Amino acid sequence: MDIEGSVALVTGANRGIGRAFARALIEHGAAKVYAGARDPAKVVDQDVTPLRLDVTDHQQVADAAAVAGDVTVVVNNAGIGGASTKLLEGPFDGARRAMDVNYFGTWAVSRAFAPVLARNGGGALVNMLSLASWVGQPLFPGYAAAKAAQWSLTDALRKALREQGTLVVGVHAGFVDTELSAWTDAPKISAAEVAEQTVRALADDRVEVLADEETRKAKDALSLPLDPGAPKTDTTDTDDTTDAIDTTDATDTTNTTDTTAETGTVLGAVLDRWKAAVDGHRPQEVAAQFTEDAVFQGLHPYSVGRQGIADYYASQPLGLTADYRVLETRRLADDLVFGYLGVDFGFTDRPTLGVNLGVLVRCVDDGWYISHYQVSRLD
Ligand SMILES: NC(=O)c1ccc[n+]([C@@H]2O[C@H](COP(=O)([O-])OP(=O)(O)OC[C@H]3O[C@@H](n4cnc5c(N)ncnc54)[C@H](OP(=O)(O)O)[C@@H]3O)[C@@H](O)[C@H]2O)c1
Repeated sequence: MDIEGSVALVTGANRGIGRAFARALIEHGAAKVYAGARDPAKVVDQDVTPLRLDVTDHQQVADAAAVAGDVTVVVNNAGIGGASTKLLEGPFDGARRAMDVNYFGTWAVSRAFAPVLARNGGGALVNMLSLASWVGQPLFPGYAAAKAAQWSLTDALRKALREQGTLVVGVHAGFVDTELSAWTDAPKISAAEVAEQTVRALADDRVEVLADEETRKAKDALSLPLDPGAPKTDTTDTDDTTDAIDTTDATDTTNTTDTTAETGTVLGAVLDRWKAAVDGHRPQEVAAQFTEDAVFQGLHPYSVGRQGIADYYASQPLGLTADYRVLETRRLADDLVFGYLGVDFGFTDRPTLGVNLGVLVRCVDDGWYISHYQVSRLD
């Protein structure tokens, strides 16, 4: 969708990730951003329009939908930790409150604004989810359950609002550097980074953002067996080697092996993994995003198969980065997606190189992989 000229509402926009969402939307050309806040006086950004909105107050939600009737992008960001509820003892109050804000609050705002978005041409609904949507968290079980519920809601909304042309985007992240995660010293990405990735996904009509490496790994691990030796994905407790993900009930319709997954989701997931591995200078991991027999044409002689791809990326300079935008996509068959991209390869010691890139992404046994990669130099 076009962010330029859009009108957005962000809930919980007075601080943290919500504030960064509002800022990113303004910076990408939104004409107006309503900054939902329980206390509008706490909204300090001069470029946004404060709007009183406690997402658990049904009257305030209804009033917001009436006042902000021009909205084309809704970002359900408001959330709390609910960490006072322990897994094996004590009261459930914190967990109930997390359900109220994160899950029912998102649901209430989505319901109230669905007709507004429909009236305004479809637009987009963004739900701020978490790595914890997919991974049970012994340290904050109520939060994770609320985020899992919110993910399920997001998936239902994606299907239900397709007909009215609303793009529904789920944003998953591990720890983000805000007050919510101030209790832990675990590695964190910035709120601005989450917001920037989300705005790019909106611009590219992608339905999912996996904002960091831990989150991408957690999603990949959903298809792994449930044995105690399975790779850990719980970022909260790095000493617990017995932790594993329960995938027995997984009904994730965006699973990478699902041939009905949406074209944008398939392409975005593969390309995000490719980009993360390129940016991290991990040649074997880049090669692992390709099929065994992939035909690869970079800016040097072509190669076939993963080893040639690993060698190619191993020869690239440290600090190489790849920023892509999707220009065209086609669903060629259930198991075959074509993507035509613009890619800017950044270097530390020379100007950025812009290329166009065609990729064929194919579903084989256990997931989606690039089977043909063809770069065209633009100058
Ligand atoms: N930080 C992380 O590590 C992380 C990781 C993944 C996902 N997330 C998700 O990202 C979202 C934003 O989190 P954050 O890290 O930015 O947290 P934060 O810094 O604690 O900010 C939370 C925001 O939500 C608002 N809020 C709380 N209850 C509300 C309610 N009932 N109605 C309206 N607004 C309410 C807060 O308003 P007040 O100022 O009035 O309290 C605040 O603006 C949440 O959904 C969170 O689950 C966070």
